[in-house]
Amino acid sequence: MEIRFEKREQLKEKPDWNNLGFGKYMTDYMFVCDWDREIGWHDARIVPEGPIELDPACMTLHYAQETFEGMKAYRREDGKIQLFRPEMNAKRMINSNERLCMPAFPVEDFVAAVKALVKTEQDWVPSQKDTSLYIRPFMFATEAALGVHMAKSYKFMILCCPVGAYYATGLDPVKILVENELVRAVAGGTGFTKCGGNYAGSIAGQVKAEKLGYSQVLWLDGNERKYVEEVGTMNIMFKIDGEIWTAPTVGTVLPGVTRDSMIHLLRDWGYNVREERLAIDDLMKAGHEGKLEEVFGTGTAAVISPVGELRFKDDVVVINGGKTGELTQKLYDTLTGIQWGRLEDKYGWTTLV
Ligand code: COI
Repeated sequence: MEIRFEKREQLKEKPDWNNLGFGKYMTDYMFVCDWDREIGWHDARIVPEGPIELDPACMTLHYAQETFEGMKAYRREDGKIQLFRPEMNAKRMINSNERLCMPAFPVEDFVAAVKALVKTEQDWVPSQKDTSLYIRPFMFATEAALGVHMAKSYKFMILCCPVGAYYATGLDPVKILVENELVRAVAGGTGFTKCGGNYAGSIAGQVKAEKLGYSQVLWLDGNERKYVEEVGTMNIMFKIDGEIWTAPTVGTVLPGVTRDSMIHLLRDWGYNVREERLAIDDLMKAGHEGKLEEVFGTGTAAVISPVGELRFKDDVVVINGGKTGELTQKLYDTLTGIQWGRLEDKYGWTTLV
């Protein structure tokens, strides 16, 4: 894939590196590539970041044919920049696109595009503790037509933004509300994909949770509203009586890159990881019996996020006294150690840009 480059007249002012928040400051450039039925992918380019023109009849604005990914570039202590398992994001996007009848962007081209953009934006990769360059690849239909069908044209784009912690609380435990009315995904639906529609449908639950003082929603399965699945922006794991439980990725749960990496680490450390369905009633019972030792979310944006409280209807369980657990901290230190190049990467997960 050849990538042409279009220079920006004036570079943007850099943000305050100590106050980045999440997803607020886009960098100077973006990657764009077009697809149409006749010629496939063409005109890969890195161009100044800014507004794009869309026909108001563009199918994405009406029928939400859109998928996205989330990944990060990390600044190591020696100044070099690295990515974490980028091929997994590329493959997951292909799986998402297959479900939504959208074209595949080849894995090698995906990784090459991410590397080329990050290289162009190397001055935007922050070096403050726990900061990184968040990378947002996304694809959407561009055809202007109101019939519901597979579009004749698509755009694949990549944005970058320097970020700090996803949650304002940083590594302090978050409080999570279990949603018992609304559902996020059903068998046969799009739950396993990373498509905008999944997130649009989740916002009502998020608003409800925030009103009650909770920062995220834990979704139950959409068929029986009985088994725990995932949280708004991350997968979730439970340490119960020394074993780790997490929902299986059977079609309604996003196959997270961080989730997979944590399962590798945990199994390497001798933990029994049970990728099995876990009923919310059994989870709350374990909490009341003192067997629910730790709970943590896993995600690219959220990294490893300790959970200090779970509420299901009127039942509340406080986990580990509301403090970050030992295993959660160890997972966080190990994962971030590998990602920022402070620890040896014996798994071959990182790749230099
Ligand atoms: C990520 O973890 O990268 C995500 O895509 C979650 C996002 C919705 C903030």
